[in-house]
Amino acid sequence: MILDFNENKPVAVVLGAGAMAMAIVRRVAAGAKVLLGDVSEKNLERAAEAMRFNGYDVETMVVNALDKEQVYAFAAKAAELGDVMWFIDTAGASPSQATPQFIIDLDLIGTSYALDAFGPVMAKGGAGLVVSSQAGWMGHFTEEEENTLALTPTDELRDLPMLQPDVVTGSGKAYIVAKRANHLRVRTAAATTWAASHARVNTISPGIVMTPVAYDEFNAPGNTYQHMIEAGACQRVATPDEIATAAEFMLSAPFVTGTDLLIDGGTIAAMRSGAYEGRRDRR
Ligand SMILES: NC(=O)c1ccc[n+]([C@@H]2O[C@H](COP(=O)([O-])OP(=O)(O)OC[C@H]3O[C@@H](n4cnc5c(N)ncnc54)[C@H](O)[C@@H]3O)[C@@H](O)[C@H]2O)c1
Repeated sequence: MILDFNENKPVAVVLGAGAMAMAIVRRVAAGAKVLLGDVSEKNLERAAEAMRFNGYDVETMVVNALDKEQVYAFAAKAAELGDVMWFIDTAGASPSQATPQFIIDLDLIGTSYALDAFGPVMAKGGAGLVVSSQAGWMGHFTEEEENTLALTPTDELRDLPMLQPDVVTGSGKAYIVAKRANHLRVRTAAATTWAASHARVNTISPGIVMTPVAYDEFNAPGNTYQHMIEAGACQRVATPDEIATAAEFMLSAPFVTGTDLLIDGGTIAAMRSGAYEGRRDRR
């Protein structure tokens, strides 16, 4: 049975076919060819099947975002399928899932390779979205550190003194650096490789969203997550669909590029204003 007679369909690409990415891609990819990439064959098949049963035209490719060659091969496959109009990158590990070095390798360096690989294959008018985190707003970096994170070529990131294990001593710290670097490197990509393709690229920085990653964090020792949920004005976690509403805006707003949208229910506002510490102290 032919379900769609259209040819030359636009292509929507997902790297990291998890809960948030699926909620996002469903918003933009009706009528498109969808290419899903993930390191886990199981996640990939589950996500593809769910989309197919909802009428989407889906292809899959096993790809490890840690591996530069695989990421470039994934971008080449996307370009073979047609005009790449959307790229959504959520391949990442959170602090309780991985060591500091793994987080630097995946969330920072892997994401950078994905930006490098996809910039040149994007179609004119296309849009990219990297899922960073509210953690990207939790650190305090000097201007020099931010410029280093923003401008160092991806192949040289691993050798930066500020990313060595004796400096990035914990997974939480690594996550904050990596997610801030996502903002900064997307800004650079928006002005260079992606601008050359006349495509836009942005980050979103979600707060706590109910996905498998969040469940892992809730099982971590301490009450930090509980405090963060309570601290924001919304006083609850987000759903992937709420994040997708904001993501859809970033993917479709034609003049928005090189910037970040914080979607955290007010947690960072509470932290930066002192309200977060106040609430904690009153308990
Ligand atoms: N859930 C939250 O509370 C939250 C908040 C802020 C930011 N984030 C970010 O969102 C992203 C995770 O998305 P999610 O919450 O939908 O989680 P998820 O676990 O549902 O999805 C993550 C997906 O990435 C895939 N993946 C992991 N390592 C990979 C690799 N090396 N190569 C390719 N794919 C890989 C996993 O198999 C999984 O399918 C991460 O970047 C995380 O830092 C999550």
